[in-house]
Amino acid sequence: MKELFADHITSLLKRYEQALARLADADGVLIHSGREESYYADDQAPPFRAFGHFCQWLPVDRPQQAVLIRPGRRPVYLQVVAADFWYDQEIAIADWWAGAFDIVTLRSSAEFAAHLPAPERLAFLGEQRSLAAGLGIPERLVNPPALLHYLDYWRASKTAYEIAQIGNANRLALKGHAAARSCFLEGGSEYDIHMAYLGGCEITEPQCPYTSIVAIDAKAAILHYQHKRHQRYPDKKSQVLLIDAGTRINNYCSDITRTTARPGIDICFESLLRGMEAIQQRLVAQVRPGISYLDIHHSALQQITELAITLELITCQVDTAMALKLAGLFMPHGVGHLLGLQVHDVGGHLAAADGSLRPAPEDSPFLRNTRTLTEDMVFTIEPGFYFIPMLLEPARNTMQGQHLNWPLIDALSSLGGIRIEDNVRVTADGVENLSRQ
Ligand code: GLY
Ligand code: MN
Ligand code: MN
Repeated sequence: MKELFADHITSLLKRYEQALARLADADGVLIHSGREESYYADDQAPPFRAFGHFCQWLPVDRPQQAVLIRPGRRPVYLQVVAADFWYDQEIAIADWWAGAFDIVTLRSSAEFAAHLPAPERLAFLGEQRSLAAGLGIPERLVNPPALLHYLDYWRASKTAYEIAQIGNANRLALKGHAAARSCFLEGGSEYDIHMAYLGGCEITEPQCPYTSIVAIDAKAAILHYQHKRHQRYPDKKSQVLLIDAGTRINNYCSDITRTTARPGIDICFESLLRGMEAIQQRLVAQVRPGISYLDIHHSALQQITELAITLELITCQVDTAMALKLAGLFMPHGVGHLLGLQVHDVGGHLAAADGSLRPAPEDSPFLRNTRTLTEDMVFTIEPGFYFIPMLLEPARNTMQGQHLNWPLIDALSSLGGIRIEDNVRVTADGVENLSRQ
């Protein structure tokens, strides 16, 4: 781990050196983790999440921390440990990462100035602009777009250390998924399944990278369903579980979805699930350097259309169905997104490090990744098939609706939907699936 981390820091230093070369007037960069912001007239704050570019340097997720990066020098970690008897302010320092930094421990960010070089030639990355202003950093060097574009773009390419973290986050999440599946099959409620997931991973909710989606039956059609109902199924009448849940290790995320159908479920739904599982694995197998992520997305839409025709959910030929964009009624989201320090990691629409864009195509506005695949990119592959009344109902009496099998759709709607999501890495000549170990 120590060596992997040291290599990670060496790569990051090189990357930052190249990024800083894009700014004529900065010799270094101060990256701030952020601050906690309490609710109005309260001492309570939403859960804190450190600024992504800070998280890449240190496995620390705490407010008011900073790293100072200057080409050719060791990075400096300005560690703030407040004097406080309300909360535990200790920040554990582990050998495997601490050796890569000069560490200066302070009581507050007000002490940063004494440890910084000339602020007129220092760039600042972070959300607390007032801190930068207070330090005398010029406005034009606060989150300069040329620097952020470069860093956002290259964040898609993971170092070996980052891949190991995401791999570990996958291994841990899979334990939770196994526990969640058993709980569902035993008739557990969404709440029970959620707790089984956390217990399986031995984590608390704030350690999840996003609000876990634990949806039984019709709720599986709500893409980011957030509630956890208490209704149990002692009679085993619950039919479908869609659980989308990950973990976070040293600031790196996993993002895995599994759909389980109870044995004996409607045969058409069972076939739809098996078909979607096969499509998902074929999409994963398509991954290799040089292809566009857009091609994987379009392949998903094509294969979903073919499956829906085979199962007689769509009643026309493939060409007509594709022209009418019928698959979009069943899978309105993109086939996946970049993954890393953020569950929807940055840079998915960047065409180059200069900030030029390749936006989502008009027919798939929610596609979060349009990048050409290169070795060591990590992203999700997550096709879905849902019965979403808000999308289907308006289509009933339209050109699109003419080609849909409404009695079958109406019969399956109470089963909600399906999503299967893995996290994959592009290798030199193919793909490594980090979620199937
Ligand atoms: N868990 C959110 C997503 O899959 O994008
Ligand atoms: Mn995802
Ligand atoms: Mn997900």
